[in-house]
Amino acid sequence: MKVLAVASEIHPLIKTGGLADVVGALPAALKGHDVAVTTVIPGYPAVMAASDSWQTVAKLPGFFGGRTAIKRASIGELDLLAVDAPHLFDRPGNPYVDADGRDWLDNPQRYCALSSAAAEICHGLVKAYRPDIVHVHDWQAAMTLAYLNYAEAVRPKSVITVHNLAFQGQYPRSILGSLGLPQRAFALDGVEYYGMIGFLKAGLHFADRITTVSPRYAAEIKTAEAGMGLEGLLAGRADVLSGIVNGIDERVWNPQTDPNLVVNYDAKSLARRAGNRKALEERFGLDHDNSPLFCLVSRMTWQKGIDILAEALPHLVSSGARLALLGSGDRELEGIFRQASLQHRGRVGAVFGFDEALSHLMFGGSDMTLVPSRFEPCGLTQLYGLRYGCIPVVARVGGLSDTIVDANDAALTLKAATGVQFQPITPDMLRDAISRAIALYNDKPVWQAMQRRGMGLDQSWDLRAASYAKLYRELLA
Ligand code: ADP
Ligand code: GLC
Repeated sequence: MKVLAVASEIHPLIKTGGLADVVGALPAALKGHDVAVTTVIPGYPAVMAASDSWQTVAKLPGFFGGRTAIKRASIGELDLLAVDAPHLFDRPGNPYVDADGRDWLDNPQRYCALSSAAAEICHGLVKAYRPDIVHVHDWQAAMTLAYLNYAEAVRPKSVITVHNLAFQGQYPRSILGSLGLPQRAFALDGVEYYGMIGFLKAGLHFADRITTVSPRYAAEIKTAEAGMGLEGLLAGRADVLSGIVNGIDERVWNPQTDPNLVVNYDAKSLARRAGNRKALEERFGLDHDNSPLFCLVSRMTWQKGIDILAEALPHLVSSGARLALLGSGDRELEGIFRQASLQHRGRVGAVFGFDEALSHLMFGGSDMTLVPSRFEPCGLTQLYGLRYGCIPVVARVGGLSDTIVDANDAALTLKAATGVQFQPITPDMLRDAISRAIALYNDKPVWQAMQRRGMGLDQSWDLRAASYAKLYRELLA
């Protein structure tokens, strides 16, 4: 079976978050299920530089205002089609924003170009290639399904995966012409969304199947509380909506072989983690002692509850614990933690920026990883925490709720606990969770059993890929 995936990020070429990890890991895992995935991505500089064997397989002259080529290459286990449109994608840095952090003004055209090219590929633009299924990810790729809908040609079955409903791609009606869609597309049963053009809305409307990255998130988004305006549409499509929890790339995230760690270890040699901890203490300017070390690796945004952590920070410090934070995003939130690291010198350390290698060391050396998100479609850092024996302390929401077993009395008795959860998502409850985590940390046999349990879980993509393969087969049946 041939599946054409469409996405705006893919690990290891270009990544701003978990989307890239998922899009980069699924293809290899699906091979084992007889599914051949080809992924269409924008030809950003990092993408074009990742291979010197790009071959032009199709040309689109005058495409969204410039000359465009579709180029093909294999990188590792990925079969890629890049939309090489320098006028749209040859820009340095983060894919979505300029150097000042502002969205590129032509983002709707840029991601419609990606989507429109993907639709053309479904129609046979690339010789000898026709997918059975097109699988689009998030708002940036969602319009693929609109282009397919308004074209006079047979179209493949379609799946849309929602990684985050907070990003929807909403633009004024006036740009419709620049997207190459017919005027009739601006309708309730088309791309119209509260008087604007809604990219994600269109994808959710046209898709044959909708998936989210955890079952709990699939349930949450049908409610006004988490649906971000789309709850009505989603509830109406409940019969085709389901959740498949994310896996992790266990070759990349393996403490036994991870080259980013100072010391490699496994569940039988947990004491070796101390070597990574020491390296972290040095990197973050933290005291060398035996107190519990919390870490947080995250985008600094409202979603991630970084401000909630800021409020609970004095409690963390007065409880004798330390915090190492790696994050990038909101400048104001960065400022709060910069200040905190001065105020609590040796107890709180922060590094701002996106540093993949350092993120690995954080899970390999810290004792706990914090994920105080207000909402979380799946979340990956708690999964990395589990795999590295770095106990997750998480909000009970979305995928965090699906992947962590709270260390309550029942779970401890059953020997099933893997972390600490808190709810409601408030500074008070986070303080409480931090205290519970520290108490568990001080009970070494219980703590180490939790570490080993988490490390032994099967979080492979292989398991999850089976669910995607099943969904694809149902669609073709
Ligand atoms: P989201 O996609 O919403 O940001 P996820 O938890 O699904 O959240 O995925 C985030 C991914 O990005 C993880 O792989 C995480 O380790 C990584 N990450 C987030 N912030 C940073 C950072 N500042 N440096 C390095 N990696 C980061
Ligand atoms: C999004 C979500 C995150 C999820 C990731 C990958 O960025 O915020 O929860 O893990 O996508 O699916």
